[in-house]
Amino acid sequence: MVQQGYIVEQMISAKSIAARIEDLAREIEVEYAGTDKLVVVGLLRGSFVFIADLVRELNLPVEVDFLEASSYGNEMESSREVRILKDIRGEIQGRDVLVVEDIVDTGHTLTHVVGLLNQRKPTRLKTIALLNKKTRREVAIEADWVGFEIPDEFVVGYGIDYAQRNRNLPFIGKVVMDKS
Ligand code: IMP
Ligand code: MG
Repeated sequence: MVQQGYIVEQMISAKSIAARIEDLAREIEVEYAGTDKLVVVGLLRGSFVFIADLVRELNLPVEVDFLEASSYGNEMESSREVRILKDIRGEIQGRDVLVVEDIVDTGHTLTHVVGLLNQRKPTRLKTIALLNKKTRREVAIEADWVGFEIPDEFVVGYGIDYAQRNRNLPFIGKVVMDKS
């Protein structure tokens, strides 16, 4: 697919994502077996497709909430300063919480969000990221569950954007600049 000076090359197919989410859901069901109601917190906007597929695969009572933290803007560079643009609506004190992120890159966003939510004293707070770019880490943090380890490439699709585009691609693709 060619658009605006770059090409998107498929990296992870829609089918592979679906299969991986089934496996992750089974693990999460074991972890939270017997929970009263799990609060699944999606980080906007990149996790919206992932969280939609994940919660529909989870055979658990869940509540869905969203939090928006600032990150990339329209650039390919991460900002180290994380701001909360939209907080969750519900109370999480004494609740089981699962934070859903699209990509853990430098780790600043997830570190900030986990720190913030932990101040509210959830019973148990865990994290899941669809993608992990381990080699890019600047803060020591790992998600409890990771869908796929990926190399240091800029990716789009399945909710993830480049300058707000390509979120609607059903697969994960890497952005390749078209130099021609
Ligand atoms: P971190 O704070 O550096 O870990 O950045 C996390 C956020 O940066 C993710 O939630 C994404 O929104 C964004 N991000 C990181 N890598 C990519 C990428 O390859 N494509 C699009 N967004 C990305
Ligand atoms: Mg994000």
